[in-house]
Amino acid sequence: MMTLNVELGARTYPIYIGSHLLTQADHFAPYIRSSACAVVTNTTVDALYGETLRTTLAALGKSVTWIVLPDGEQYKEWSTLNQIFEKLLHAQASRKVTLIALGGGVIGDMTGFAAACYMRGVPFIQVPTTLLAQVDSSVGGKTGINHALGKNMIGAFHQPQAVIVDIATLQTLPAREWAAGLAEIIKIAAVADSAFLEWIESHITALNAREVNATMEAIHRACALKAAVVGADELELGNRAILNFGHTLGHAIEATQGYGQWLHGEAVGCGMVFAAALSMRRGSLQEAEYHRLVQLIRAAGLPTALPQLDAQRYIDCMRVDKKADAGQIHFVLLHHLGQAYMEPVSDADLEAALLE
Ligand code: NAD
Ligand code: GLY
Repeated sequence: MMTLNVELGARTYPIYIGSHLLTQADHFAPYIRSSACAVVTNTTVDALYGETLRTTLAALGKSVTWIVLPDGEQYKEWSTLNQIFEKLLHAQASRKVTLIALGGGVIGDMTGFAAACYMRGVPFIQVPTTLLAQVDSSVGGKTGINHALGKNMIGAFHQPQAVIVDIATLQTLPAREWAAGLAEIIKIAAVADSAFLEWIESHITALNAREVNATMEAIHRACALKAAVVGADELELGNRAILNFGHTLGHAIEATQGYGQWLHGEAVGCGMVFAAALSMRRGSLQEAEYHRLVQLIRAAGLPTALPQLDAQRYIDCMRVDKKADAGQIHFVLLHHLGQAYMEPVSDADLEAALLE
């Protein structure tokens, strides 16, 4: 097993990465301080891993409220979130309850947001079961839901007590979801660590084959990079914004295509190609580096071509992005592979790049 910390002073928390951690009660015990907890999951993950976690929590003698939500990005919204509050209130859960998010990023984001709001804040544990959630969304305390007008527009920063990454759960992940997780691994390397990007390039076949050692190393390195960025800028007042590389257009793809049509990781993959092209047009990223990144995104099995849509539609949607300021769209761009920066980009430049 590997352990990392997200260093946030008194709110520092561990990330445990290993195989079959879902069955190991001692990883959960220190973070469930009262006799009651509530597991939030979805129908798919419950069928696969619900029984395992039930057995583990039973061994700790906890009283557990089990909350099973419908599966899908389209359910990351108010009425599904409200189901969590209703179940907690019906169970008379007190403010000492610990919520446990068992699932991918959708469950993690919604459970974290529910934990931030329920009785003005209760603790929660992230138990991510997709590659994307294990390398990115479970770490860093961004929680929330989507709005028809924009992705992740309603939410809160609320850090978990611990992140328990059981890589054995990845065996059942569909191929498309696996590739979507690789997108976020490529993203963090592209903005923060050129040596890691080279490592991914040389291990992409092993990663596509879900080879265990390569997977463990990729998760560990991605989480370590994210933990460092979050530790230095928890609330995204500055450098944390680089983690949104590929997301400005990516979120616009998700919103315009209908949540759930394009997977988040697929949209980010395509968004990274666009942001890298924009970087090249502005004279920062070298053409050879652009082609390396596109080649890697393709090798991970991700789409690199945008869905055909009027450029203005994308631009309008990108203006709702959280990084936008006074109507001006800000993009995370690359100086080099492994080195990112943020800059406002005019509508005219965006339109020209989109048309190209
Ligand atoms: P997801 O949660 O929808 O999970 C993808 C699919 O895999 C779902 O159908 C799910 O039921 C299924 N699944 C989960 N675990 C499984 C397993 N072990 N075996 C088989 N199937 C399994 O999607 P995701 O890609 O995990 O997360 C995407 C979400 O995360 C988006 O909403 C995105 O906005 C959010 N996100 C948040 C952050 C953050 O910092 N909070 C970062 C990145 C992404
Ligand atoms: N996924 C972007 C962030 O956590 O900041």
